[in-house]
Amino acid sequence: MGHMSVVLIGMMGVGKTTMGRLAAKALGYKFIDLDRAIEERAGKRVDAIFAEDGEATFRQMEADTADSLAGAPRVIVSAGGGAPMREGNMARLRAIGVTVYLKASEAMLLQRLEASKKPRPLLQGEGWKEQLTSLLERREPIYMSADFVLEVDHLSRLEIADAIKQIALGAAK
Ligand code: S3P
Repeated sequence: MGHMSVVLIGMMGVGKTTMGRLAAKALGYKFIDLDRAIEERAGKRVDAIFAEDGEATFRQMEADTADSLAGAPRVIVSAGGGAPMREGNMARLRAIGVTVYLKASEAMLLQRLEASKKPRPLLQGEGWKEQLTSLLERREPIYMSADFVLEVDHLSRLEIADAIKQIALGAAK
């Protein structure tokens, strides 16, 4: 109890990285972005891994990088949107810390993704909105298996960060 590590999951664009960073600061925890950690291990960017090595290679690196973080004390990890999908990965993420699904409406995700500068290899080209809908449909049931579900649409950034903090401190229900 108290001072648990936390893993944020949820769709691209929901704000896992932003909120994770904020909550980590409030807690005095280390913040780790899983995509960044993969890039450091691979020596190249996520979009380059997708383009040059393919998604399957990226997913293997993602699972391996998650394993390398198992048991890390007092960290907030933001996991890429697809990380929970591979067989066994929810358990891998759970071995790092308590899992929290940052849940947003599709309308909010669309709005945030339109404004986002992060390259997203899975949402390229004209059909990206339809692709988002289909990914969300497939992923939602897995995301919902998180230890906590935090609906973010009507919360401020500070409220979201505070909710994550309460979970890390073992104070949330
Ligand atoms: C992905 C999400 C990305 C990144 C990669 C694949 C996904 O992370 O891991 O582009 O499958 O949803 P974010 O969720 O931080 O955008």
